[in-house]
Amino acid sequence: MARPDRTRRHRPQRLARSVYLIGFMGAGKSTVSRRLSRMCGLASIDMDSYIERAAGKPISKIFEDEGEEGFRRAETEALRCIAQMGEPMLVSCGGGVVTRDENRAIMADTGMVVHLKVSADQAAARISDTSTRPLFQDLEAARARLEERLPAYEAAADLTIETGGRSVGAIAHDMRRALQRAGVLLDEDETD
Ligand code: S3P
Repeated sequence: MARPDRTRRHRPQRLARSVYLIGFMGAGKSTVSRRLSRMCGLASIDMDSYIERAAGKPISKIFEDEGEEGFRRAETEALRCIAQMGEPMLVSCGGGVVTRDENRAIMADTGMVVHLKVSADQAAARISDTSTRPLFQDLEAARARLEERLPAYEAAADLTIETGGRSVGAIAHDMRRALQRAGVLLDEDETD
């Protein structure tokens, strides 16, 4: 888990509840989460890394050994553990987290959900190494998968941010403002 970085020039802030970043593979969830964590001095956690640590093997090997169903079970278990940690955090989720009703319910019950929206073509341009993403092997299949998932991303999201053609910094700034407006991101000495 990333610890808050208090050495930056920005004023430290805190989260009133967790913020779940969702969106297709390559949307920039982990990168934006890390940037926002540094900007605001917030704790953050990456679900895929959590799953890999818990399983003791990379995501690609989990898919190889246990199939997608085995990975989905591990993903729900990880989400449940993270949601129960108590401390509100920025949580960057795997792209398929919305495929289970149970996961959507956990996120809705314990935090605010932000959808980083990306097209399959933009995502493909951002993903340099598809070997770590068993479900992003070819562009046609990725386009179809994204189209199928889009309604679930939209239904789960409290807020959607378009990422196409935008820098990580610009997306993180938008998100910061939106979380402040929503009363989820507060100054450290501010009461909820
Ligand atoms: C998946 C997305 C991946 C990872 C796994 C499955 C998906 O995470 O959880 O390969 O089903 O979309 P990223 O969205 O971080 O690439």
